[in-house]
Amino acid sequence: MTTGARVARGMGVRALRELGRRVGRQVKCAAVRQQTRSAHSASQGDVRKIALVQGASRGLGLEFASALLERQSDSVVVATCRNPEASEGLARLREVHGPSRVHSVRLDLTDPGSIAEAAERVKRDFTPRLDLLINVSGVLHIPGKMMPETSLARVEYDQMLLSFQTHAMGPALVCKEFWPLLQASARADEAVLPAMVNISARVGSISDNQLGGWYAYRSSKAALNQLTKTMAVEFSRKKPKVAAIALHPGTNDTDLSKPFQRNYPKEKIFAKEFGVRKMLEVIDAVAEEDNGKFFAWDGQEIPW
Ligand SMILES: NC(=O)c1ccc[n+]([C@@H]2O[C@H](COP(=O)([O-])OP(=O)(O)OC[C@H]3O[C@@H](n4cnc5c(N)ncnc54)[C@H](OP(=O)(O)O)[C@@H]3O)[C@@H](O)[C@H]2O)c1
Repeated sequence: MTTGARVARGMGVRALRELGRRVGRQVKCAAVRQQTRSAHSASQGDVRKIALVQGASRGLGLEFASALLERQSDSVVVATCRNPEASEGLARLREVHGPSRVHSVRLDLTDPGSIAEAAERVKRDFTPRLDLLINVSGVLHIPGKMMPETSLARVEYDQMLLSFQTHAMGPALVCKEFWPLLQASARADEAVLPAMVNISARVGSISDNQLGGWYAYRSSKAALNQLTKTMAVEFSRKKPKVAAIALHPGTNDTDLSKPFQRNYPKEKIFAKEFGVRKMLEVIDAVAEEDNGKFFAWDGQEIPW
């Protein structure tokens, strides 16, 4: 064997050893993280009792409200949506759990005044603190009016505006208005790490964008991701601590995904109950070091 070949072979072995060490380290880190997550899920799931679910009229938002009420007999949910009186699902939750545990409040993400009014009303009439805020609302298509763009040639100003209002501008104001209530929770009970959870979508990841298309939806979810990260940086410098994360639900069987399910393997479409249960496991496990991260429904981190 020539010296050059020996050096190359030696480098190959060294590279393999290094790779082995790295994989070992990654597996170890994942295992430690999993343990930490389990430890937290025991505590945070129990202490995060007063939640606000923004976008709770139907779909994943209604399911979040339902699951949060089901799992703790003393939990309270503030459920916001555009038209609370019209939501049969919310009426059912009030019937089952009682009006003292389910408060419906009007909030339209395209109307900044309604966001400020909702925050005033929540503070005045229902609760001075929140342990959890989940921004769930989303829009991808409106029958007869709006479909995600398959080409740049189809991009429309109004569709971009509505997407950014619903996924970025509105949620940013919701976070702004309710942040003091999350801080109040941390002040009242130091066992609680209040969480601000923005329901995003994997397609909002810029580095994960392989397929293109869906300009308005993708870019407005990317804006939500940037807002989440920016809030997290601010939260990391302030006390009391609040954690902000973005969360991808996977593909769930809701009105939003209905027109696109045809091209998707059936076994990969979750029932809402499953998707929400998995997301709540991720939320329960949120610890200080998770502030500013983007997670999928199964706890895997997604690159921004
Ligand atoms: N389903 C999936 O497969 C999937 C995948 C990835 C990400 N996501 C994300 O998950 C979240 C929930 O989606 P979903 O599947 O539950 O959708 P959905 O069933 O279509 O429900 C959408 C919700 O958003 C509300 N909403 C829309 N515009 C609003 C506005 N201007 N102000 C306040 N509320 C508004 C709707 O309220 P109304 O009843 O008043 O219309 C409804 O409660 C969204 O952020 C979506 O982008 C879903």
